[in-house]
Amino acid sequence: MNITVLAIESSCDDTSAALLRDGVVLSNLMATQKEHNEFGGVVPELASRAHQRNLVRVVDSALKESGISLKEVDVIGYTRGPGLLGSLIVGSSFAKALSLALKKPLVDVNHIQGHLLSIFLKEEGESDREDPKFPFISLLVSGGHTQIIEVQSPLEYKILGGTIDDAAGEALDKCAKLLGLGYPGGPIVDRLAKDGNNRRFNFSKADVKGLDFSFSGVKTSLLYFLRERLRENPNFIEENLNDICASYQYRVVESLLEKLVVASHQRGIGEIALAGGVSANSYLRARVGEIGDREGWRVYLPPLKYTTDNAAMIAIAAYHKYMAGYRAHGNLAPFSRLSME
Ligand code: KG4
Ligand code: ZN
Repeated sequence: MNITVLAIESSCDDTSAALLRDGVVLSNLMATQKEHNEFGGVVPELASRAHQRNLVRVVDSALKESGISLKEVDVIGYTRGPGLLGSLIVGSSFAKALSLALKKPLVDVNHIQGHLLSIFLKEEGESDREDPKFPFISLLVSGGHTQIIEVQSPLEYKILGGTIDDAAGEALDKCAKLLGLGYPGGPIVDRLAKDGNNRRFNFSKADVKGLDFSFSGVKTSLLYFLRERLRENPNFIEENLNDICASYQYRVVESLLEKLVVASHQRGIGEIALAGGVSANSYLRARVGEIGDREGWRVYLPPLKYTTDNAAMIAIAAYHKYMAGYRAHGNLAPFSRLSME
């Protein structure tokens, strides 16, 4: 068929552009913003300005690396939301302008949909890697979202459960912040937890009905725990860092997997995929494999580079929408909050 998509992702602090031909990634480039590190989180105003500075260069490099010229692009895809409004406006205005200038169709993408479909991304020469069969269940875990979603087809989803407060990634980021470890915290906690005893400390477990999650309690329990221990021993964090990280991460990951098992039983579905930044977590990846063996699941893990935000996942979602006949209006406005539009 040979449909080439150029996609732009600018929902948070990374500026990304990708080229995709029929599901195969030709290039996927990223400018990571360092300006937020000292603040322990993303500063929206700084993020929008950095997107504005980086976007042309990133798109240019993505085109060069793919060997595709702008004339050969068939579809322009971009993230419409959810995310930081200012950042989304930069990416969507750029995509609209490009679509007008090139007279090429525009397809807006929901960021969550991009994460969900990232499991289908292939590298060149990798077309024999197996795809999940529909319907499958995806555990979508990122810095902003935590959901269990039944994916019925590339464009049809049913949300089975979600967080009632913090996202799983946010819970790990807050843990790192409380321990003074930097941002984003997920990868740091993951690394330190590898040398820790995950059963040493028992952080509080949320008791939420059905397939929903809550992660604000585990963060609060860490806060009170540290306060108490630091009073007795000012060096408590340094002396126990690995065990604290391992025990906290254990609580977050096991809570996710417990509900995933219930979802699989309820829906009678054993095709299980992970998506989103937290699906890079090594403990989660190992545990979903172990539980999968016990439950008879077929588990699909996205390659690490497609777990965190990237434009290739936006391109594959745009590709599926385009093939289904969808075209965006030029007057669509970005949205900041979760929506499955
Ligand atoms: O999907 P993503 O890049 O952005 C959102 O859409 O939110 O996810 C970012 C989140 C952050 O909270 C980050 O700490 C977490 O993913 N993360 C990880 C790992 N790598 C990234 N969490 C745990 N272990 C990791 N290895
Ligand atoms: Zn994301």
